[in-house]
This record gives sequence, structure tokens and C-alpha cells, in this order.
Amino acid sequence: MLAQNRGIKPLLQFPAGRLSRMDKRQESRSIGGGMSSTVLILYASVSGTAEELAALTALRLRTAGSDAVAMNVAEFPAMRLTEFDTVLVIASTWGEGEPPPDAEEFVTSLGKLPAESLPDLRYAVLALGSRAYPEFCAFGRRLDEDLARAGARRLLPRVECDTKFKADYEAWFAAVLAQLKEPHAAG
Ligand SMILES: Cc1cc2nc3c(=O)[nH]c(=O)nc-3n(C[C@H](O)[C@H](O)[C@H](O)COP(=O)(O)O)c2cc1C
Repeated sequence: MLAQNRGIKPLLQFPAGRLSRMDKRQESRSIGGGMSSTVLILYASVSGTAEELAALTALRLRTAGSDAVAMNVAEFPAMRLTEFDTVLVIASTWGEGEPPPDAEEFVTSLGKLPAESLPDLRYAVLALGSRAYPEFCAFGRRLDEDLARAGARRLLPRVECDTKFKADYEAWFAAVLAQLKEPHAAG
């Protein structure tokens, strides 16, 4: 398990702790009151891969000139999705097709949002998993479907990653970046 996640290390050129503090500052500046143009990157993770990819994505988007903040779904009430116009979701699957344990509350709340309650939200899902499991990327798939059911619009089709995910992540990120340059009507 740990070995398969080592692939991400060369992508990161900073200590994760420092990024967390950066994200907290960004979060306090950007969240609260009205619709935020900040790109929200939500992650659901157990062994840290999705978390590291979310932090990397936030850093890259900031470097490209966008406001971006990475947050654990465990700390983010699904209702607050109404405050954002763009969310990127990076989520791993655990157990037998299940969410990471600390993502349960978020996905339950998301599932209870009324249909069409997120009409102004656009989103993209990067699902992490392993083809060694029969329920490949099931949680990412579920989030993708729940967001669509709640009325959010896909920026691009969901990307599902096996354990060697670097190329898929890079392609997903490039597609996200291209879509974010499009007018907001895209989706
Ligand atoms: C105990 C265990 C159960 C897993 N179950 C699934 C599964 O049902 N479906 C799947 O696609 N991947 C499954 N995986 C693979 C993880 O989703 C994959 O390793 C992912 O990259 C972990 O991301 P994280 O470090 O962000 O938690 C499982 C991994 C472990 C160790």
C-alpha cells in the first residue's frame, strides 16, 4: 500500500505541513459570505495520496494565478458547496468500494441535498483506486453521480486512476486548467 503511493513524492517539493498552513490562511481569506471564486479542492483520503494531490493541485492553480484552497471533506459541510462556483474532488475508495471513514458524513449530507440544489456549481472528479479491487473507484464514482444529481455541472468527465496514477493525474490537471480558462458557462 505505502509502496504504491510513493510515486507522488517526486511531485512534491515542499513539506506537507507548510502547505497545510498555507491552505488555512487561504481558507480564512476566501471562505465565508457570498459566492466565492476560489477553486475549492476537496479530498477524501486514508493513506494520504488524495491529500497530497489536492495540495499539489492547489499550489499549481495558485501558481497559474487562481485562488485555490484544499480541504478535507471531513472538515467541509456539503451544504457549503452552494458558496462556491468551482470544486475539484480528489477521492480514494476504501474497504469494498467504500468512502474513507472520515468522508462518510460528507457523502451522506451530499446525498441528502435536494435535486438541482447546486445549479451554479461546476466540478471535476479525480477518483483514486486500484484495479485489484472489484469495486474500482466506486467512491469517486458515487461522488460524481451525487454532484450531478444535485444539479452541479461537470467541467470534464470523471478520471479514474489505478495505483500508477501520475500520467492520469497530469492529464486530468491539464484538462481542468484548460476548462478553468473557459468562460463560466462551460460545463
Ligand atoms: C484496505 C484497502 C481497501 C481498498 N479498497 C479499494 C476499493 O474497494 N476500490 C478501489 O478502487 N481501490 C481500493 N483501494 C485502493 C486505494 O483506493 C488506493 O490505494 C488509493 O490510491 C488510496 O488513496 P489515499 O492514500 O488517498 O487513501 C483499497 C486500498 C486498501 C489498502
